[in-house]
Amino acid sequence: MNTHATPISRDADGATEAARADAHGAAGAHTPARSAPARENAMGRSHPHESARAQVAGLAHYIDDLPELKGTLYAAPILSPVAHGRLNAVRTDAALSLPGVRGVVLAADVPGDKLLAAFAHDEPVFAFDTVQHVGQVVGLVVAESVMLARRAARLVTLDITPLPAVLTVQAAMAAQSYVLPPVFVRRGDAGAALARAPHRLQGSFEVGGQEHFYLEGQIAYAVPLEQRQWAIHSSTQHPGEVQHWVAHALGLDNHAVRVECRRMGGGFGGKETQAGHLAVWAAVAAHKLGRPVKLRLDRDDDFMVTGKRHPFAYEYEVGYGDDGRIQGLKLQMAANCGFSADLSGPVADRAVFHSDNAYFLEDVEIASYRCKTNTQSHTAFRGFGGPQGVIAIEAILGDIARALGRDALDVRMANLYGTTDRNVTHYQMPVEDNILPDLLPKLEQIAQYRQRQAAISAWNAGSPVLKRGLAITPVKFGISFTATLFNQAGALVHVYTDGSVQVNHGGTEMGQGLHTKVAQIVADELGVPMERVLVTASDTAKVPNASATAASSGTDLNGRAAQFAARHVRDNLAAFVCGLDGCGAGSIRFEGGRVISPTTERAWNDVVQAAYANRIQLWSDGFYRTPKIHYDKATLTGRPFYYFAYGAACTEVAIDTLTGESRVLAVDILHDVGRSINPAIDIGQIEGGFVQGMGWLTTEELVWNAEGRLATHAPSTYKIPATGDVPAHFKVQLWPEANREDNVGGSKAVGEPPFMLAISVYEALRNAVAAARPPGGQAAPVRLQAPATAEQVLRSLGRLG
Ligand code: MTE
Ligand code: MOS
Repeated sequence: MNTHATPISRDADGATEAARADAHGAAGAHTPARSAPARENAMGRSHPHESARAQVAGLAHYIDDLPELKGTLYAAPILSPVAHGRLNAVRTDAALSLPGVRGVVLAADVPGDKLLAAFAHDEPVFAFDTVQHVGQVVGLVVAESVMLARRAARLVTLDITPLPAVLTVQAAMAAQSYVLPPVFVRRGDAGAALARAPHRLQGSFEVGGQEHFYLEGQIAYAVPLEQRQWAIHSSTQHPGEVQHWVAHALGLDNHAVRVECRRMGGGFGGKETQAGHLAVWAAVAAHKLGRPVKLRLDRDDDFMVTGKRHPFAYEYEVGYGDDGRIQGLKLQMAANCGFSADLSGPVADRAVFHSDNAYFLEDVEIASYRCKTNTQSHTAFRGFGGPQGVIAIEAILGDIARALGRDALDVRMANLYGTTDRNVTHYQMPVEDNILPDLLPKLEQIAQYRQRQAAISAWNAGSPVLKRGLAITPVKFGISFTATLFNQAGALVHVYTDGSVQVNHGGTEMGQGLHTKVAQIVADELGVPMERVLVTASDTAKVPNASATAASSGTDLNGRAAQFAARHVRDNLAAFVCGLDGCGAGSIRFEGGRVISPTTERAWNDVVQAAYANRIQLWSDGFYRTPKIHYDKATLTGRPFYYFAYGAACTEVAIDTLTGESRVLAVDILHDVGRSINPAIDIGQIEGGFVQGMGWLTTEELVWNAEGRLATHAPSTYKIPATGDVPAHFKVQLWPEANREDNVGGSKAVGEPPFMLAISVYEALRNAVAAARPPGGQAAPVRLQAPATAEQVLRSLGRLG
């Protein structure tokens, strides 16, 4: 239905103007009419990020830039050197004897609950009795300088009796070592479908974890105030949870703790729960010493202490027809959760929800194990288990295509969800907004997939050492928190008497542009220029009980709440103007800094001033909750998602079959953000998400040694993509259709879905490996562990043990 629509490219002339015009034009029946001409709107334009200038000038404040209060002390963590053991004693004399060291803080110093207020209540604030991973925090040393605290922390010795440690997901499976019970989702009869399928494949593979590598490491600054009240500055995606955790650990009511965060230097899921640990640690130290305490982990400690993306191991058996269509699937996914539950339950659930990716699985049986190991407690990371689900089915489809000698895009197309039938997911949610049957052929055309596939085959035939591979993979990503209760948000809009506007909402800014989009939304609601709208720091004292900024839903939730808050103020002003002009409230328009009634046009500032003089309320709250969603936790069925975001990527890679090195040469992306609120920011999220996903699948390798110590804990050994790894050809286009659900401005969430577009890199690499096989050897599955480092590529080629 939308194949006629022209996708939007940043390379198109006038970039954002073209984008906005097309987006509005193509949206058709799904677009609610707008009163003001599009040209005057803030939404749909590529406004620069609200902090861009300050950030490049070094003028944007992060926690460590805040002016420090007199008497501030600095903390450094004491880490367990043992993966699992009984903690007999902590010897602190040497550390305490250093001049300038003010104290050591241990579990006994926690005034409230010695366990964190984490969801499964299974994690100590500071380790006591036992240690459960190398890097677990046993306590803090507090001193007059950061370097002194870190030096002193190394002088603390721990008396530990080692216990047997579970270090791999396989060992955990064998020992039935779980942080949470396994979950099974079934539809139809997978066993019977497998038995009658004409073809079958089975296999197993593993996908590694990923370090968040936010540029600003984890940090908290805890300030005791009067009368057992607290101010906490935390680099957190979830100020409300930090507030709750700190209050819980200190034995206080939530109202005594105020948490503030102006921005993070990246979070990527790593600061969704785990920022809370630092805040609690700093607060316990500040409580003991009666001084403000700042705790900033250095990079190595951040690696050793905090959880990462969950590594996954898979086993599968699939049955399929001659056309490559899957008839039956049994899939087992084992997530390495580390030593505690953290967010592993919902992460593993989301992997289950995304193990269909874009494909109809009729007879299917999925088993999801949440394995407990003696490693860091793995946590949210962009995609939140979705990538680990999607990669499984994409790998299976790639091997089916190889086994049949068919083009992989044809096999993927044959398996897509239908639009009228074959359109209910394995968790019983109808897919009502499926655009992939249109989007994939469009990308095929943009990327000239067929022509290049033929050209690459010819090129490979004449190239004995270098081999190329090409692959298209789609993404369908469910938007909403799967825990229905989190899908709510609040905001405050204040209009001051000079007509300037301040917005505060429950979301947090981590570089993704949330504050910019919310300012655009509020500017349009009030019909004022963007410059009149300022978004202020996230603050639990302004908007309470806010959900984490996560699940890509920051703008969907907080943008709507802010829109409603602004609408209340606008309604107050409209009623006031109607009283002056004797007209109906619906007849007032707010645009371009003017307030226009059928008889009179006034400046926004004048209306605000006059309204104030007439005692009209110039500020309001707004509240939003996502409609339509519901979901049964016990059976994992229902409608967990309000809608899906779609996209696809076509990626070309080359490998060197002698060294195993690889490069991503060319990437074309067609991605669905609905009607873009800010095309430049959205394209930035798509590019950034793709490159981060590419890192996960190629170079970012986490290696734990035989003692359970993470050996890759700094940029010297852990390789994130560098500027030179960005593909020379990297083109992103936006799908030109508004969200079919009623979402803010017709937009769709963009934060996480593009991450999974990078699975096309992995599939292209496997195609390149297959191309290196001798003639006739093409049909066998390609075993390639991710990340596909040079070693893994060589192993996949059969050139390494
Ligand atoms: N973009 C930047 N620059 N920095 C980040 O930390 N986090 C990602 C994504 N994009 C992140 C980012 C993750 S994990 C999520 S869930 C979303 O942003 C959260 O923000 P949103 O809901 O406002 O999109
Ligand atoms: Mo994002 S992993 O939901 O913080």
